[in-house]
Amino acid sequence: MRSDWLCLLEDLATYAEPLRRLGRRQLPAPETHSELLGKSRALVNALHPRSMRLRLAENLEVTRSTRTLRFERVDGELPPFRPGQYVSLSVSIGEVSTSRPYSISSPPGIGTLDLTVKREPQGFVSPWLCDREPGWEASSSGPAGSFVHEPLRDRGPLVLLSGGSGITPFMSMLQHFAAVGFPGKTTLLHNSRSTDDVIFGDAVASLARDHEDFDAVSVISRPPADYTGVSGHLDAQLIRERVGELDGASFFVCGPDGLIRHVEEQLALLDVPAHAIRREAFGPPADVTVMPEWPQGIGSDDTFSVSLVGGQTLYARAGEPLLNSLERAGEVIPAVCRTGECADCRMKVVSGDAWSLPGAGVREADRAQGFVHACVAYPTSDLRLDRG
Ligand code: FES
Repeated sequence: MRSDWLCLLEDLATYAEPLRRLGRRQLPAPETHSELLGKSRALVNALHPRSMRLRLAENLEVTRSTRTLRFERVDGELPPFRPGQYVSLSVSIGEVSTSRPYSISSPPGIGTLDLTVKREPQGFVSPWLCDREPGWEASSSGPAGSFVHEPLRDRGPLVLLSGGSGITPFMSMLQHFAAVGFPGKTTLLHNSRSTDDVIFGDAVASLARDHEDFDAVSVISRPPADYTGVSGHLDAQLIRERVGELDGASFFVCGPDGLIRHVEEQLALLDVPAHAIRREAFGPPADVTVMPEWPQGIGSDDTFSVSLVGGQTLYARAGEPLLNSLERAGEVIPAVCRTGECADCRMKVVSGDAWSLPGAGVREADRAQGFVHACVAYPTSDLRLDRG
């Protein structure tokens, strides 16, 4: 187990070598103020690029429905990133230009970037993405997101709770910990639908065998009749049994919105304080209209007109995020996180009503002035929107 200070030093070390390389290559003694400014911008852009050009190097099978897409960067070196962060991949499929955030599943510092994608049968992007051949190129955002282990904040036992492809950011964290030392007692409880759907099952079991600070439990919700492992869901009893002492623990929860809500309810039964829980939701809720806060009397398939100031008028379903409806109509909207966090898709509601997911990350001042984040906002009347 590493001390807090050692954790910090090791995290700093993640950035040290890229900084040294960049410093050697890009920062000769400046002669003028503008030259210094230009070189500083180049350094910042190299460490935190707004966009990157990626080439698919390998497309690897993980389970029958999941692939790992291994990318190399073609327009520079990969920037440093924190395990748990994501990149947003931009794609054009037919007439639609859209983007999807994917957690990085590989550890930092290996020169390639793995994105592990589950093929959703009804999905628009994931089936197309899983079929890409090596050599395919795409643009992405730089690494982003705050779903990361912070040694000074997350000082107690670490509890990682995931469902389906929600294990991907944890795979990056676990491989990083395996390389530099686990920060303390770490437990992964991962829920899969069936034994055929366990993502990274062998790799995680191998890490658990090799590291005494790390324990992993694979939980199958629909096991075969002869299954002898742990079955069911991530409930309070299982968490208590497998983690033990919960006082001072930090909880990271990742997966579909339904799993996150379920796990939060279970953690509440265990009196885990909200400030000890970090969450990363993959995709919008399957059915937003069943949420308790959803306005009464509006169905998922109710349709409303959405007119854009200075642009087209389109029709949008109440049960779909506004961002998806706008993209389907050919609008290109900046979007990185698609979870309400980054504010790239911020728009002003000039007239009408849009309902936002609770905790959608809109600043209070913006909310008061009628701004929404289109990725987590749903039309509940005819709307007029200004992209600002
Ligand atoms: S894409 Fe980030 S807030 Fe909408």
